[in-house]
Amino acid sequence: MRRFLPYFKLFRPVRKHLILAILAGLVYGAANGAGLPLMAKQVFPKIFGEGAAPLGTWELVGIALWLPGVFIIRGLAGYANSYLIQYVGVRVLESLRLQYFEKLQKLPLAFFKRNSTGDLIARGLGDTGQLQHTLVVISNEIIKQPATLVGAIGYLIYLAFTEQGVMMVLASLAIIPTTVFPIRYVGRKMVEKAKALQAQAGSITDRFTENLSAVKEVRAFGLEQMETNRFNDLTRAIVKTQMKVVKYAQSLAPAIEIISAIGISITFVYAYRARVPLESFLAIIFALAVSYDPVKKLGALSNELKRGEVSLERIEQVLYEDVSIQDPETPVAVDRLDGNISFNDVRFAYVPGEPVLRDISIRIPAGTVCALVGPSGAGKTTFANLVPRFYDVAAGSVTIDGVDVRQMRVADLRRNIAIVSQEPVLFNDTIYNNLLFGRMGATREEVEKAAKDAFAHEFILSLPQGYDTMTGERGSNLSGGQKQRIALARAFLRQAPILVLDEATSALDSDSEAFVQKALRKLMVGRTVLIIAHRFSTIRDASMILVFQNARIVAHGSHATLYESNALYRSLYDRQQSAA
Ligand SMILES: Nc1ncnc2c1ncn2[C@@H]1O[C@H](COP(=O)(O)OP(=O)(O)OP(=O)(O)O)[C@@H](O)[C@H]1O
Ligand SMILES: [Mg+2]
Repeated sequence: MRRFLPYFKLFRPVRKHLILAILAGLVYGAANGAGLPLMAKQVFPKIFGEGAAPLGTWELVGIALWLPGVFIIRGLAGYANSYLIQYVGVRVLESLRLQYFEKLQKLPLAFFKRNSTGDLIARGLGDTGQLQHTLVVISNEIIKQPATLVGAIGYLIYLAFTEQGVMMVLASLAIIPTTVFPIRYVGRKMVEKAKALQAQAGSITDRFTENLSAVKEVRAFGLEQMETNRFNDLTRAIVKTQMKVVKYAQSLAPAIEIISAIGISITFVYAYRARVPLESFLAIIFALAVSYDPVKKLGALSNELKRGEVSLERIEQVLYEDVSIQDPETPVAVDRLDGNISFNDVRFAYVPGEPVLRDISIRIPAGTVCALVGPSGAGKTTFANLVPRFYDVAAGSVTIDGVDVRQMRVADLRRNIAIVSQEPVLFNDTIYNNLLFGRMGATREEVEKAAKDAFAHEFILSLPQGYDTMTGERGSNLSGGQKQRIALARAFLRQAPILVLDEATSALDSDSEAFVQKALRKLMVGRTVLIIAHRFSTIRDASMILVFQNARIVAHGSHATLYESNALYRSLYDRQQSAA
């Protein structure tokens, strides 16, 4: 219970609704807990009692109205309670999901390499949903059900003091506390099962996302049946766990019912011995019956708490995750950087103990077009990722214009860098908005100018809705070359002094290719460029070349000198040239 305390602040914006809901719940509880027993006591003797005084018509109607009266009050209050509680619930869910999503936006890239997308989605949708349910159920039942119980038991106690023999009956109530044993046992079991279930929910989302993102590959390799079988294995496992949860959750109510039935049958015996009048006995039975419901609900509440705890843990793992890439406390103010990049004895490892970059010391003066070459896995992409501080170095430092990137505000640093990746990612939005991501707040003229610079303007205008054409999911409505030109236009729009380019490995058709190359050349002018080059034409254009091998820079210089002096470079270059 205490675990959930910090989250009750989520109720703050809807606290009025919550209070009203609880008040309605209390009215419901009173009508439910005391209303029916009271009715039995008041109405029955007048109707069935031997030697009861004859009733007038209006008196009879008044007595007959007792039952609908109790139900009307109970019904209206119950309705108001449910409606308001649902409202509170959806609002709490909204803020929980928002908080979770916000946190995901801040987490460093490394976090997403460690955690699968499916699991993160399952936490964001499934676990937040479970937690919302738990919070709402707690806040609703924790007052309402005990209140009903107090209403019913209070009435019993009143009877016990006013009627003879009823005291004995009350003793049978002692059975109620014994119901905690099944409740506790089931609770323990539920935690284990709920944990397994939520983890499985993550893996099923994973299977979905992976399969849906590889629709083409599945067809091409004929993996349909295999994928289906793998999916089925997973769903089968989930069925098993789900049924275990059901097994424990559903056993609770009958267990409590049986215990209560025993309690009531003991009451029969006492009542017979003590000669308790029928109407008092009926009132007692009603009171016992209505107190059964809260006991059952409080039992279910304890299960709910356990399940909520599991989800809470999974959400908190993300909410409390360390945001390792953060703004410094006293950042160095930077506006527009010149772009003198310097790596000073940099060491870096994705996995501690397995360095991917070692002893990297290199100065790249502003305005240099610097090509990174080397065999696959040598560390080129990793090197480029350190400049926008997607990762932090393990030792040494990366500086720009002499300022350590860790001393700048992350936003200031990244505003100075334009990145064009190998596979440009477009958002499912209009082309115009996709371009605008290059620099939010750019004017229409600026956007179109950037598109023209990237040789994208004409093809955009030829599309049915021009700049307002939707790009489709991940840009699926556009060709590879078109996507690249959009990505380049974004980079133009960014007007950043530093440009990081991961050149596409797959060649485009020659027309598209010519456009992209022309745009690229124009984009490089006057910027510090780090380009992971796959084409010899690009490499030759670079004023500086870094040769990577086994996590180190083994040589650097111009094309001419490296070609003369470095065997690795020569073989890489020759191989690429012959491929082209
Ligand atoms: N997230 C990661 N976790 C662990 N190891 C990684 C991660 N990303 C890359 N590596 C490893 O780091 C090394 C360098 O990878 P990097 O992507 O920098 O190579 P690269 O030179 O860009 O290769 P390519 O030319 O194939 O793109 C590789 O051995 C790779 O396996
Ligand atoms: Mg790479």
